[in-house]
Amino acid sequence: MKPIVLITGASSGIGAALAKVFAARGHEIALVARRGDRLEALADEIAASGQPRPTVFTADLERRDGASAIAAELSSRGLEPAIVVNNAGFGLRGEAATLSRDEQLAMIDLNVRALTELSLMFVDSVARHRGGILNVASLAAFLPGPGMAVYYASKAYVLSFSEALHRELSGRGVRVTALCPGPVPTEFQARAGLSLPAAARMLELSAERVAQIGYDAFMAGQRVVIAGIGNRVLVSLMRLVPHALLLRLVDESRAAGAAK
Ligand SMILES: NC(=O)c1ccc[n+]([C@@H]2O[C@H](COP(=O)([O-])OP(=O)(O)OC[C@H]3O[C@@H](n4cnc5c(N)ncnc54)[C@H](OP(=O)(O)O)[C@@H]3O)[C@@H](O)[C@H]2O)c1
Repeated sequence: MKPIVLITGASSGIGAALAKVFAARGHEIALVARRGDRLEALADEIAASGQPRPTVFTADLERRDGASAIAAELSSRGLEPAIVVNNAGFGLRGEAATLSRDEQLAMIDLNVRALTELSLMFVDSVARHRGGILNVASLAAFLPGPGMAVYYASKAYVLSFSEALHRELSGRGVRVTALCPGPVPTEFQARAGLSLPAAARMLELSAERVAQIGYDAFMAGQRVVIAGIGNRVLVSLMRLVPHALLLRLVDESRAAGAAK
């Protein structure tokens, strides 16, 4: 079986940028998302830059059979992941009790269930190739998020799961890294119904920069990487603030943003 890097959510934003970074460093890649036309265009762009053309799969990872459909496609083409990049994800802004319950559960299906399934499904394959798993979490992983409760909780799961897996699989030569970006201008904000306040914009990094940071940290075997110095300082400060106060501050800044 030929080893490849499997990248989910590669049709836009951070995932597309990760695909370009992995391809530029000589990895053969397979791209997954729902919008096949976007994936084909990205595959053409990567091929035009002189790298092998990525394999493209369309899959809806909110569906229960999404991950197994990918596994079947890979195997039918004689491919197996040396590296799994679980990047696909989305958020929704609004109070959990009033947002659509189905959409919030679909978020858990994608951000949590599919990520977990794809991480565990290919452990033997990534161990055989001494590769690993790069999971895209978020700054949201470090605190509860009133106004985006399920999203923040889903990213706390990604961080916790990835750190534990890093420890469990280290003896098998498998790297596991949680990449925690702060704000990144992508299609994420429109889908979540977010507009970033000016203070958050100061912490913004491009998708390309975040992808490079994630790649470098993963290759170095880092357990967790917070993208950008401003975001690292913010997480350090958050650890000093009493939890109840932090929760109130997040809620008040959300309410101030919503009032604008
Ligand atoms: N942007 C930020 O500020 C930010 C900050 C921290 C963390 N993150 C995290 O970074 C990751 C990438 O987000 P992004 O900012 O690059 O957003 P994005 O531009 O909206 O990209 C999201 C990707 O996920 C894919 N996706 C969504 N639903 C899917 C489904 N049901 N099945 C398969 N693929 C699906 C989308 O492709 P299709 O629509 O074609 O399926 C797209 O390729 C997410 O996990 C997000 O939580 C983002």
